[in-house]
Amino acid sequence: MRLLVTGGLGFIGSNFIIKILKETNDFEIVNVDAELFGSNQQNLEGIKDSDRYEFVKGNITNKNLMTELISKCDSVVNFAAESFVDRSINDANPFLVSNIRGAFTLMDITTKQKKRMVQISTDEVFGSLESTTATEESKFNPSSPYAATKAAAELLANSYTKTYDSDIIITRSTNNYGPRQFAEKLIPKTIILAIQNKKIPIYGNGKNIRDWIYVDDHCEAALLCLLKGKSGLSYNISSNNEIDNLTIVTKILEIMNKPNDLIEFVEDRPGHDLRYSMDSSKINKELEWKVGTYEHHDCSSHFKSILLGEMYYNSLKDSAPGKKISEKYIDGFMQNGELKITNKKWVEYNTTTNNNLIRYWEELFTGFLSTKNLKVITK
Ligand code: TYD
Repeated sequence: MRLLVTGGLGFIGSNFIIKILKETNDFEIVNVDAELFGSNQQNLEGIKDSDRYEFVKGNITNKNLMTELISKCDSVVNFAAESFVDRSINDANPFLVSNIRGAFTLMDITTKQKKRMVQISTDEVFGSLESTTATEESKFNPSSPYAATKAAAELLANSYTKTYDSDIIITRSTNNYGPRQFAEKLIPKTIILAIQNKKIPIYGNGKNIRDWIYVDDHCEAALLCLLKGKSGLSYNISSNNEIDNLTIVTKILEIMNKPNDLIEFVEDRPGHDLRYSMDSSKINKELEWKVGTYEHHDCSSHFKSILLGEMYYNSLKDSAPGKKISEKYIDGFMQNGELKITNKKWVEYNTTTNNNLIRYWEELFTGFLSTKNLKVITK
């Protein structure tokens, strides 16, 4: 199968591509990515020379380019999105462009060309759920401009399925963690700040709950939906791993041997959802997917923490070639818009020990999620 993956230089998209190329032989992948701030060529450094991989720089709103690329592929998985809630609060416009106009462009072309499309969505479309758990039938109630754009794309997809009998499948996952995550998100940001002994901002009282899924589990579910999902349906992908933010940050600090007084409670995010929660029994039953289980590791090693931090430094460094990453989010981490790390270091890690680094990442984080009875994780 020749697959068009959009946004494959981002966190989840790159994990998806690596997984497919590593674990299967029957896929060729075309990755189209606009190389906006969340994209990082280094994410796919390890597979860029594969003869089953092709990179095209381009935006999903570019109708001509998408028409051409889709005509040479069997199906499309749309990871390309603006996904940082805080950024959507500052300026929603890029979110409307990528998440609605971009998704629309892909739906329209795949419909005309009679190709399958998987639209990657999010639990955030259901908004804050204080005590209930969303099924695929629950009503949308997005809080942030980001979530509203993802909900809009879903509504558009539903309308296409009803009107044109389009072959679109929607997947919604909970919060992902894992290698190559962009540094503005809670977990990498905490590590990066902690490693520098900098204050870690927790919005509000830290009691907001997210359901954390290891990115590889999400990718596996998305692949299953592509291959076996029923046209026109949506699938919730959750891991029953609901944890509040303060617990996560405290646990990371414990692993890294850093003091809790690095935590700083700051003004809450406007419209901050208290809790996301989804029921994924439909994908469990219909597609026989279940969340992976990871072994408990002793993750207290300082060494691992350092490696992990280094990995994040590295993945951050090239996140925005020629662009500034907002210093608001990673205060003190940048110097004149440049990261304080040499290119040489990245190359060293990338060519010699990158696999180990990723391994360390898995160990560290599966450890922190598995202790404190958060979840018993075994792989
Ligand atoms: P984030 O990683 O931005 O993902 P999302 O908003 O899509 O869930 O945030 C996860 C949670 O962590 C969310 O409740 C907001 C909170 N948070 C903080 O408390 N401080 C921070 O610096 C960040 C980035 C997030």
